[in-house]
Amino acid sequence: MSLIEVKDLVYYYGMRTPFQVTALDHVNLSLEKGGIKAVIGHTGSGKTTLIQHLNALLQPASGQVLFHGEDVNATKESAYRIRFKIGLCFQYPEYQLFENTVFEDIAFGPKNMGLSEAEIDRAVRAAASYVGISEDFFQKSPFDLSGGQKRRVAVAGVMAMDPDVLILDEPTAGLDPRGREMILSMIRNYRDQTGKTVILVSHSMDDVAETADEVIVVNKGKIAMQGTVDDVFSRSAELSEMGLTVPEVTGIIDTLRAQGYDLPAGIYTVDRAADALYRYLTGGRTL
Ligand SMILES: Nc1ncnc2c1ncn2[C@@H]1O[C@H](COP(=O)(O)OP(=O)(O)OP(=O)(O)O)[C@@H](O)[C@H]1O
Ligand SMILES: [Mg+2]
Repeated sequence: MSLIEVKDLVYYYGMRTPFQVTALDHVNLSLEKGGIKAVIGHTGSGKTTLIQHLNALLQPASGQVLFHGEDVNATKESAYRIRFKIGLCFQYPEYQLFENTVFEDIAFGPKNMGLSEAEIDRAVRAAASYVGISEDFFQKSPFDLSGGQKRRVAVAGVMAMDPDVLILDEPTAGLDPRGREMILSMIRNYRDQTGKTVILVSHSMDDVAETADEVIVVNKGKIAMQGTVDDVFSRSAELSEMGLTVPEVTGIIDTLRAQGYDLPAGIYTVDRAADALYRYLTGGRTL
């Protein structure tokens, strides 16, 4: 049985109004446990609508979402329970920070789950360590932090609920390159340390190339592709028809290949490009 199964899911905004939009159009998707799964797609393709169905925040017009084989919308009680199992971190989550201290903000979820003080303390410390927020920050106001730090505190708030699945909607949106790299390495670190399943929504192909174990491409409310980074990125012509372009570094390497340089295909990250160029220039040595 798959961890998450989406069956023939249909969703409309403005249903039965003149403004009705089909946001999800008979979506079928199976997700297995573990790894970072990147959901990519052009603006308006339906990524956010899809992930909001996974934890029962939106209810389908028709179709089902199964978590461990159980319909997440079976009852009010199951929808409530699923929200702690599938933690969803919205786009720009830092706008939802509101407590007086960083500690209180990260502790908000675990408190709602009715954990004891000691359990809350443990959950907050574990989550803060995943995102690289040290204890020195615990008594600070979240509003005194930098943009990247606020984002990390907000993500820690979801991690502190110890969900089985962590969903992050555009976690690097609006961050500078350093903030972006911090968030991506924090996500990889969380996957490696916890073995949990992470679903990462992005329209940055660079983010996806650097982090994803599996890629799901959404286009016009449908699943267009699902596979490894290599499977998906090798279909660059189809991707560009959907308004997605393979990372810039891939274009550079492909141009060099077209000019006769003996470099491998399938280079999607700057690290891999640097390694291939070094190998080429030194006659086989690696970086
Ligand atoms: N609250 C809403 N009311 C009406 N239409 C909406 C609403 N939210 C989304 N839509 C429409 O539903 C479709 C899917 O939107 P969705 O936000 O899921 O896409 P997305 O892939 O997350 O886009 P982005 O990359 O911009 O975040 C789009 O056509 C969008 O305009
Ligand atoms: Mg979105």
